[in-house]
Amino acid sequence: MLALHSQVAVLFEGDGDMAQFASLAEKLGIPLAQAPAFGDTPFFLTWREGALKLLDRELLKKGGLTIDIAPRSGEQRSYPAPKEGAFAQAIGRKTKTVVDATTGWAQDSLCLFRMGYDMTCIERSPIMAQLIADAFARLTHESWVQKLALAPPRLLHGNAIEVLQHLDTAPDCIYLDPMFPPKRKKSALSKKSMTLLHELVGEDLDKERLFEAALSATGRRVVIKSPDYAPPLGGRPSESFAGKLLRFDVYFKP
Ligand SMILES: C[S@@+](CC[C@H](N)C(=O)[O-])C[C@H]1O[C@@H](n2cnc3c(N)ncnc32)[C@H](O)[C@@H]1O
Repeated sequence: MLALHSQVAVLFEGDGDMAQFASLAEKLGIPLAQAPAFGDTPFFLTWREGALKLLDRELLKKGGLTIDIAPRSGEQRSYPAPKEGAFAQAIGRKTKTVVDATTGWAQDSLCLFRMGYDMTCIERSPIMAQLIADAFARLTHESWVQKLALAPPRLLHGNAIEVLQHLDTAPDCIYLDPMFPPKRKKSALSKKSMTLLHELVGEDLDKERLFEAALSATGRRVVIKSPDYAPPLGGRPSESFAGKLLRFDVYFKP
């Protein structure tokens, strides 16, 4: 993986207050690029249409990727959404508090948030953490969130292997969805957002250590999402729920 400052730049395209862009670049310790001088970094962070977006050089002309805070297609738009399907079964219907230790694009976290779970999110990539913080800030402006006076999920930036050791209270469930190497040509990585995330953070080579840390920090269970071709990360799971091309392996705390 390349050093962050040679990988990502904050891009100012002439819209808005440049000081906001400069302060983000300073906070992340990455360069500030000013269009049309893009420099040679492969990725950019910029605000477009009111949201912080991640772009590669191909996306410069085409919009960029942001964390989608809208419910997934087919998801019931009531709050809390029903706890149905393999994902909710694995997390547990009696579970109240969940820590997502590998938040990434936050789609799983936001889905659990909409099901009414009390969510804490951990992410170690400073770029992804910034995109998540922007998404949770946007979430607070959604009319349904305001009407129900809901607080967005908490976000903790850092390596979950360390962060999990310092939680105030043990959550009912710790959820893990680390990066696995792709196997199929048409895998989850064929989605642009996952390809880009893979290029940005690489494979998570410390997944086993993360699992151990999660098992000792959880109050009740650890749930691992894994592609169906990968062996269970923590050995034989207590329970397993199959989804489309993936599995949720559940480990109860001994
Ligand atoms: C496959 S993505 C997660 C996708 C996510 N479930 C979603 O719905 O968008 C994995 C993410 O976990 C993060 N991650 C992996 N290991 C981590 C660790 N030990 N601590 C914190 N974040 C970690 C990676 O940086 C990456 O953003």
